[in-house]
Amino acid sequence: MFGFKYFTPTKVVFGRETESQVASLIKEFGGKKVLIHYGGGSVIRSGLMKKVTDSLDAAGIPYVMLGGAVPNPRLSLVYEGIDLCKKEGVDFLLAVGGGSAIDSAKAIGYGVTNDGDVWDFYDYKRKATACLPLGVILTLAATGSEMSDSSVITKEEGLVKRGYSSDYCRPKFAIMNPELTMTLPDYQTACGCTDIMMHTMERYFTNGGNMEITDALAEGLIRTVMKNAEILVKDPKNYEARAEVMWAGSLSHNGLTGCGNDGGDWMTHKLEHELGGLYDVAHGAGLAAIWGSWARYVCGNCLPRFKQFAVNVMGVEPVGSDEEIALKGIEAMEDFYRRIHMPTNLRELGVNATDEDLAEMAHKCAVGVGGSMGSARLLYEKDMLEIFKA
Ligand code: NZQ
Ligand code: ZN
Repeated sequence: MFGFKYFTPTKVVFGRETESQVASLIKEFGGKKVLIHYGGGSVIRSGLMKKVTDSLDAAGIPYVMLGGAVPNPRLSLVYEGIDLCKKEGVDFLLAVGGGSAIDSAKAIGYGVTNDGDVWDFYDYKRKATACLPLGVILTLAATGSEMSDSSVITKEEGLVKRGYSSDYCRPKFAIMNPELTMTLPDYQTACGCTDIMMHTMERYFTNGGNMEITDALAEGLIRTVMKNAEILVKDPKNYEARAEVMWAGSLSHNGLTGCGNDGGDWMTHKLEHELGGLYDVAHGAGLAAIWGSWARYVCGNCLPRFKQFAVNVMGVEPVGSDEEIALKGIEAMEDFYRRIHMPTNLRELGVNATDEDLAEMAHKCAVGVGGSMGSARLLYEKDMLEIFKA
C-alpha cells in the first residue's frame, strides 16, 4: 500500500426534507450574499427552488440567481456567472441540481477568486489558489461532485471537455434528500448509477498499492449500487434504494475507495470526456459504452484485479484460467448494464463516429492526458484509438 491523504471537509446533511436547513447552513458557513446556480429548470418544475428561495427570504439572506447549466456545462455560462458574482458582491455559491450545476458553480468560484482566465486551470496552464465557498442541494446521485475536488467544464470553441481538481472547490455542505431524486427520468437514474460504480472501478483497476480494507469498501459499494439500481428500474420511487445510491455516489468519489492505491486508472473517464465534448452524450451512458472495450483491452495487464473483481463483485465461480474468469466478470458487468438499459458500445449510445472522428477523439484525449495515462495499462494515442474502434 501507498501512504495517502484523505480530506473530506464537506458537512453532509442527509435525509427527508433536509433542504429546509439550507438557510441555516449558509449562515453557518458565513454566506452573506448568495448566487443560486442551477440547470435547465427541473428544480423549478419540482418546486424545490421555491422552497429554497422562501427559506433564504425568511432568513433575510440576499441572493441572485443564474440558471442554464447544461449537461456537460459550458464555459460561456461560467464567465457569465463570474461577472454576475463580481457585480453583485456574491460571497457564497449555492448549487441546486446535479453534477453540471455543481461543476459550473465550482468554476465560477475559481473565476471570482483568482485573476486571469478561469479556463487556464482546466487547460492545465496554472493552478487555482482559492475558490468561493460552495454549498450544494443535490438532485441527482451520480458524479459525487457534492463532495469531490473536481469539476468538469466544456469550452465551446473546439468542444474541449476538461476536468480540474483541487481541494479548494470541495463543497462546505451537501444537502442530500433522496426524495429529490425521484423525479429523475429512468435514463438519468441509470446513468447516475453507472457513474457512481465507475468512480470506484476507476480506483479499483490498478497495478499499485491496493489495500484489503479499501477493496472491501469498494467491492461492497459496487455490489450495493448494482442491487439498488435494479430495484430502481422497477420501482423508481423506492426511498431506501434512492438513499443507498445517493450515499454511495458521495462515498464513491470523495476519495474513500482509493485510499492506499496509486491514484487509480481513470482512462474510461478520460475517453468518455472526449465523447461528451464532441457528441454531448450523458456522462454515465458514455462510460457504460466505453468500459467493456477498455476492460478487454487492458485486462491482460491487470489480471489479478480483473479476476478478483469477477469473483468478489460479479459472483463469477473461480473455475478455469485467470483469463477466463476475468472475461466472465467483464461479460457479467455488460449484462448488468443491459439490464439497467445502458449502452455497451458507441452504436448503442447513438454515436455514429467516422474514422476521422475517432482519430480526433483519440488525439484530443492523448493531448489532454499529456501523452499517456492509465494504471491497469498505460495507454497511448494508438491504444485510445483501438478502444474507440472496439
Ligand atoms: O438541467 P436540469 O433541468 O436540472 O435537468 C437535469 C439534466 O437534464 C436533470 N435532472 C437533474 N436532477 C433532476 C433532473 N431531472 C429531474 N429530476 C431531478 N431531480 O438531469 C439531467 C442531467 O443533469 P446533470 O447535472 O448534467 O447530470 P450529472 O449529475 O450526471 O452531471 C454530469 C456532469 O458532471 C461531470 C460530467 O462529465 C458531466 O459534465 N462529472 C463531474 C464530476 C465531478 N465534478 O467530480 C465527476 C464525474 O466523473 C463527471 O465527469
Ligand atoms: Zn464520472
